[in-house]
Amino acid sequence: MRKVGIVGAGQVGATLAQRVAESALAHVALVDVQEGMARGKALDIAQSLAFLSSPAEVEGGGDYSLLEGSSVVVVTAGFPRKPGMSRDDLIARNAEVVRDVVKRACDAAPRAVLVMVTNPLDAMSWLAWRVSGFERHRVLGMAGTLDCARFQYYAGRALGVPPSEIRCMIMGSHGDSMVVLPGYSQAGGIPLQRLLPREELDELAARARDGGAEIVSLLGSGSAFYAPSAAVFRLLKAMMEDEDSILPASVLLEGEMGIEGIFMGVPVVLGEGGWKRVVELDLDPEEREALTRSAEHIRGQIERLKENLRF
Ligand code: APR
Repeated sequence: MRKVGIVGAGQVGATLAQRVAESALAHVALVDVQEGMARGKALDIAQSLAFLSSPAEVEGGGDYSLLEGSSVVVVTAGFPRKPGMSRDDLIARNAEVVRDVVKRACDAAPRAVLVMVTNPLDAMSWLAWRVSGFERHRVLGMAGTLDCARFQYYAGRALGVPPSEIRCMIMGSHGDSMVVLPGYSQAGGIPLQRLLPREELDELAARARDGGAEIVSLLGSGSAFYAPSAAVFRLLKAMMEDEDSILPASVLLEGEMGIEGIFMGVPVVLGEGGWKRVVELDLDPEEREALTRSAEHIRGQIERLKENLRF
């Protein structure tokens, strides 16, 4: 069995560790600056497997050598949002954390695929790529699968079908400027535009976009972690089982969709070793304009990072 390394044993990281171990997708190494906490949670998860038929081994601690041999390293280390904060408000604090942990993780697991979860997602994914020196196919950020899960939930409720019946596509930044594409969304193969009026589709898109903030304000402290960890799990499964599935992820664009030099959410073919290619979509003028705005927003964040970190 292969190994998944997870840096950050907080809400998202530990829940992901549990999902990976319980499903026997891979062995798990959980690393956190809070060493005892990471060890404790790993032990707890490992002992829970007595009631499940999973042979996965789960280890935890503060030592990055635990990550050695990982096929994929997921980075969730950093600070989550507080009520009233946007994901962008986290940039300065989380950039320091990401720079440090990615360097150490890549030294320990130089052949791994890096999956970023820390927010603001697109900028942190760019930073991870820059620090790692990995080629672009081995670095991706998890955002679109989570945003889609939220859209699928609301669309499923509107239609009275389970969320798994809905397929959708969301591009752009993981934030207020994300671009939901109803034209590429369907229920049981039927385009959603044929099942729901335009105003209702717009409302569903807004709820998906604001879904994270809604949970932050309900929780009072911390941000969502069940759906985020499930969304990372979906990406891990596609890679570990070499599915070549088409899923949204934030990747470094080099001219695809007419965009260059930034990480941004796009549909990619995902399998063994990372993402293989971007699936380029035809957008109508309104969607194209929204995507350009989203790209400019990310570009601004990356420029600020370059200045602050003197890259
Ligand atoms: N090295 C290792 N671990 C670190 C470091 C560091 N330098 N700094 C922080 N951490 C760890 C914390 O000790 C904590 O256990 O990162 C973990 C973060 O966990 P939580 O605070 O529970 O946050 P979580 O909800 O898991 O979100 C993590 O994912 O969804 C995003 O916006 C979210 O950026 C946030 C990240």
